[in-house]
Amino acid sequence: GKTASAVWTPLLAMEQEYPIRQELGSLHGIPLFKIFIEGWPQVKAFQARPDDLLISTYPKSGTTWLSEIMDMIYHDGDVEKCRRDAIYNRVPFLEMKVSKGPSGVEQLENTPSPRLVKTHLPVQLLPTSFWEKDCKIIYMARNPKDVAISYYYFHHMAKIHPDPGTKAEFLENFMAGKVAYGSWYDHVRGWWEKKQEKILYLFYEDMKKDPRREVQKILHFLGKEMAEGTVERILHHTSFQEMKKNPAANYETMLPTMMDHSISPFLRKGISGDWKNHFTVAQNERFDQHYQEHMAGSDLHFQWE
Ligand code: PPS
Repeated sequence: GKTASAVWTPLLAMEQEYPIRQELGSLHGIPLFKIFIEGWPQVKAFQARPDDLLISTYPKSGTTWLSEIMDMIYHDGDVEKCRRDAIYNRVPFLEMKVSKGPSGVEQLENTPSPRLVKTHLPVQLLPTSFWEKDCKIIYMARNPKDVAISYYYFHHMAKIHPDPGTKAEFLENFMAGKVAYGSWYDHVRGWWEKKQEKILYLFYEDMKKDPRREVQKILHFLGKEMAEGTVERILHHTSFQEMKKNPAANYETMLPTMMDHSISPFLRKGISGDWKNHFTVAQNERFDQHYQEHMAGSDLHFQWE
């Protein structure tokens, strides 16, 4: 049969380039890459289709994992079909804009329905067309300590981000919402408050603990039946170990000038509670205090491991 590399050759030729280590701009008060802000008019005017499914997350919350699961569900667990292209092309990134190559909007315009769409936009910035067309949305949230650590390592390897500084400096910026996509608190709370029939709100920690149950939740949400063996295949193919070695899922096909996996792989650890290996006792106390203040009055709760 076809080897992965045979399938992969044309993709390696794909060239996308981002500006390197620029300061963030501000989009309606949300810190964001300047090049994405340049592309904002097209994103704002984006025409959703009623059968689009939106995968929405704060960065580093399990977007790629959920994307691979969704693509597998959409292709009835056909592993080969899910190797047809890199995950960032199979599930285009709505607000993405590069200096060379198609934008997320352009990619989406060339994607046949039913489309899977990735976004990190806070709820108030989602193009109105998604609401008008009553699209289904799956939001995935992850505890902020693990998000912060994952984001810190991602800043080092993905050079579209500004220099993260020291871990202590980065944690301060993260808590203050001075990172791309702004405040984690506002993001998770904003989407939580928007929750309704057409939005399925999932947690990374639940997915780690019982992926079968979470996949069943997704199937129920989609109104889709699936044979047990197919579910089994999806769970296997989307496990951390499988995704880490899958060039269609692990981002290793991106240009090394944009992502350097030798600094830190995109699929880094894939666990809950890694923050314990990184936070000092003082940082943890400070973070807990800050968390209490910013989540006060919310019925949204997180698991920390
Ligand atoms: S991005 O850049 O915002 O789209 O990143 P995102 O995909 O949201 O988050 C990356 C983190 O998700 C982990 N990951 C997984 N964990 C468990 N199982 C699977 N299959 C999986 N796939 C990706 C990835 O390792 C990043 O987390 P950390 O903690 O850095 O390992």
